[in-house]
Amino acid sequence: MKRTRKRNPLAWFFYLIIFLLILILIELVILCVTIVRRGSSQGAQMSQTVQSADAGQHSSMASADDPQQMTQTEIAGQAPQTETDLMQTAITEEATEAQTAAPQANTDLLLILVNASHPLPDNYTVDLVQLANGKQIASLIYPDLQRMFDAARAQGIYPTVTEGYRTHEDQIAMMQNYINRYIAEGYSESDAQQMALDYVAVPGTSEHELGIAADINSQDGNTDWNVYAWLKDNAHNYGFILRYPEGKEDITGIDYEPWHYRYVGEEAAREIYERQITLEEYLMQ
Ligand code: DAL
Ligand code: ZN
Repeated sequence: MKRTRKRNPLAWFFYLIIFLLILILIELVILCVTIVRRGSSQGAQMSQTVQSADAGQHSSMASADDPQQMTQTEIAGQAPQTETDLMQTAITEEATEAQTAAPQANTDLLLILVNASHPLPDNYTVDLVQLANGKQIASLIYPDLQRMFDAARAQGIYPTVTEGYRTHEDQIAMMQNYINRYIAEGYSESDAQQMALDYVAVPGTSEHELGIAADINSQDGNTDWNVYAWLKDNAHNYGFILRYPEGKEDITGIDYEPWHYRYVGEEAAREIYERQITLEEYLMQ
């Protein structure tokens, strides 16, 4: 007679546990494979975008660095950037760069008013792209900035971003540099402070802290009226406005700055350009 072996109930429990452990192990392996695949496909996508951003650049230009998207929080600890001397800028790197996917436009951010009486919102943060010359701008404005530079280059004009995003600490350093320079020229401290305010926004009230404004000069970093003239006539087609126009100093509170362009999006930029008004006037209507 055949004897059936009776298994101990504990043994069944043990098999169940083993089975469950194997299932968990399989899940973990699947999860790891998915993560690794996702990582490599993002890498491929990024290098593809880098190539397309490089395409069409003037042949004398260096190829773009890899873009580095980061948040304000991540870069807050960086050392202040050197001050751009507005009359003799000394940036030698070209300003064309690469970028990952274009973010969605945020109308509230695009039309935000920041000036002496309108400080940055509390806890403001921004996603940034690093340009080839190390300057940073909001990733939001990158695609149109690139389009604008490509169009300028196609017409023999070679602009560069000489100042983009600044941390609050950068802005403090910028203001202090101006004050120190005027003091070194023999002005009293209070005169120096007053004169600095003509060109430098009080820290906490600068559009550079927003990341959606840029100082644009020639490719060698110098003041270049050809660049300024081209921007004045064309920037609105790419969503940028001359933020501190000549003759509007009483409204903007800042002296004429032909190099400072602010992104507001194409619709607002066209209207501001056509009516020859400032952002303050546009928002007051
Ligand atoms: N130069 C402009 C006004 C700024 O400091 O933001
Ligand atoms: Zn500026």
